[in-house]
Amino acid sequence: MYSETKRNFKIKKDAVILAIESSCDETAAAVVKGGRDILSSEIISSASEHVRFGGVVPEIASRAHTSAISLVVEKAIKSADLTLKDIDAVAVTYGSGLLGALLVGVSYAKTLAYCLSVPLIAVSHIRGHLAAGYTVDKELTPPFIGLLASGGHTAIIRVTSFDGYEILGGTLDDAVGEAFDKVARIIGLAYPGGPNVERLAKEGKNVIPLPKMLKGEGGYNFSYSGLKTAVINYVHKKEQAKEEYSRADVAASFQSAALDILAEKAIEACGEYSLETLTVGGGVAANGYLREKLIRACRERGIKLVLPPKPLCTDNAAMIGAEGYIQYLKGNFADMDLNAEARIKEVGERS
Ligand code: KG4
Ligand code: ZN
Repeated sequence: MYSETKRNFKIKKDAVILAIESSCDETAAAVVKGGRDILSSEIISSASEHVRFGGVVPEIASRAHTSAISLVVEKAIKSADLTLKDIDAVAVTYGSGLLGALLVGVSYAKTLAYCLSVPLIAVSHIRGHLAAGYTVDKELTPPFIGLLASGGHTAIIRVTSFDGYEILGGTLDDAVGEAFDKVARIIGLAYPGGPNVERLAKEGKNVIPLPKMLKGEGGYNFSYSGLKTAVINYVHKKEQAKEEYSRADVAASFQSAALDILAEKAIEACGEYSLETLTVGGGVAANGYLREKLIRACRERGIKLVLPPKPLCTDNAAMIGAEGYIQYLKGNFADMDLNAEARIKEVGERS
């Protein structure tokens, strides 16, 4: 059976990995060679189907994955100019994420790996975000500091080896992306909240005093629930008093309060651990304000910033291929009984 054959897999340094990601509302497939070269990266998003519900509807996401997965894999193979015979391994996100959504990717990947007689690699979504930097800077090698900022995770991580890390701090309550999504709703912006808050913030000013979470305290930990509550209170007070207020100023003030601290703490960690490289991952790392801030701060401190382009910060399968390759080299293959997990106890999650 499969688990016997898997012992015989020969490890190739320039292995071509087909990676699949379906943890939320993006059905993604990518072909990555040697863990660093993205030969293709395709995404079919169901985001527009969720807009009228104000957030991702798991059942709709699962159905969308089911209808998109064959097509997205086909596109990835085709745009890499390869055929299925060229694939050395199949990597797939098995968690954390929406269970039904993950199951579509996991079932597809298992079937493919079995039919092609190649190893199946189970990848953590969050480790995938952390690995995006390897595809951007071919020389990127641990140790370095990783800043993780997504819809479910916020953390400052000391990456000690390709497969080892220490979490220096994480969120104590909401993740930063979650705070963006909630604030978006409060000020009447549609899903997806993060990019819409960023857009509106460009028209406003950072003039509303909001709490800076755990600034100078709490080591590298973050708390976003106080900030979110402060925004809710501000908006409610204005509305109850029937006073005019600028939604753009709320967006700009929230964005600065939420992101200044992330950049500051990431830079501080580089200093404390004498590490000269910082990389970022997760949807919030696509935010232009944060990117500018990191670029400036890293330039001033002489820190090398590995900043993945926006499509590699938000959910994609290329990052799953990069992390899959690390597990591939270790021979860390999954069995055919691999199951999806809604929540892997992982880096930077609220406890
Ligand atoms: O990494 P990701 O695509 O999915 C998760 O793993 O969670 O991150 C999604 C999160 C959402 O909360 C979204 O609002 C936020 O990233 N996001 C942004 C931006 N683009 C996505 N937040 C702020 N500014 C953005 N431009
Ligand atoms: Zn993600």
